[in-house]
Amino acid sequence: MYKIAVIPGDGTGPEQIREGIKVLTAVAELEGFKFEALTYDFGGDRYLRTGEILPDSALEEFRGFNAIYLGAIGHPQVKPGILEKGILLRLRFELDQYVNLRPVKLYPGVETPLKDKGPEEIDFVVVRENTEGLYCGAGGVLKRGSRDEVAVQSSINTYKGVERCVRYAFDYCRERNKRRKVTLCGKTNVLTYAFDLWERVFHDVGKEYPDVERDYAHVDATCMWMVKNPEWFDVIVTDNMFGDIITDLGAMIQGGMGIAAGGNINPEGVSMFEPIGGSAPKYTGQNVINPLAAICAGSMLLEQLGEKRAASMVDKAVEQVCAKHLKSLAAGRMGYSTGEVGDLVVRYLR
Ligand code: IPM
Ligand code: MN
Repeated sequence: MYKIAVIPGDGTGPEQIREGIKVLTAVAELEGFKFEALTYDFGGDRYLRTGEILPDSALEEFRGFNAIYLGAIGHPQVKPGILEKGILLRLRFELDQYVNLRPVKLYPGVETPLKDKGPEEIDFVVVRENTEGLYCGAGGVLKRGSRDEVAVQSSINTYKGVERCVRYAFDYCRERNKRRKVTLCGKTNVLTYAFDLWERVFHDVGKEYPDVERDYAHVDATCMWMVKNPEWFDVIVTDNMFGDIITDLGAMIQGGMGIAAGGNINPEGVSMFEPIGGSAPKYTGQNVINPLAAICAGSMLLEQLGEKRAASMVDKAVEQVCAKHLKSLAAGRMGYSTGEVGDLVVRYLR
């Protein structure tokens, strides 16, 4: 019996997660495993009502779960940063989810803005470091609001943090067994302290994987190649900030936020899975949001639990739904409601 903590969150998060749970329930029944889902109402509404963001007690409770399933965080009446830092980033940091795993995979039948590129060419994974870099909050401000203002925001990169992330990327690449190539995405020509560390660790660790090719690309060039030659990539490993940026680009070339999923992974602890898009508040309650990103996050969750066959059943069902049914992945243009898309995925599980 798996224990899953569910945080539906803000805006359209709950609608997406509802379909995700629908699919998890169906696949569990088919595969003969059980899970118990406990829902937590953290997010903008609770914060506005009670002032509470994420109590320490909940964080402790989360440590007792097999996984966390998150909808989306972000509320139009809450100042940007409060919920993101207080919930999403806090969970990533305190649960030490040191890898943010983001597959960039174009399913057959899905439209990509890249001319002449298809599912053969767009199939790679970004391993984004998820607990360090510019996201640490290191820095400060002096004389704020005056013409003498000084703002410093530092990127923290530790040997240990870089090493475990890079090692995860090589292990993942081996297991994935596709092009067998890991590309380090950095900026060694300018960020000569941080990416000197990354580059040395990348090669030291990489030497232990002689069967995996090592490649390097600056982050700006990575953006260029992702558009021009996405087939060059298999696994990309990079720091927190660059990973954040290139995975939005990745989401667009795989068909948009309607399908882009990610996992915040602590291989030794509790991992959290989420659609990588935002809460899309303007569509709230309309039953038009695409739940496939949440459903794909559910597939990643199953993979992490070790339910590999169930994970692949969900993935294949999503592929069928994309290929045979959806007119578009965009909210309101799918040709189906949110609930109907969930039902379709369930139908193809069988
Ligand atoms: C993401 C998001 C978050 C991030 C925000 C909401 C803090 O953009 O998951 O990519 O920057 O990591
Ligand atoms: Mn982002």
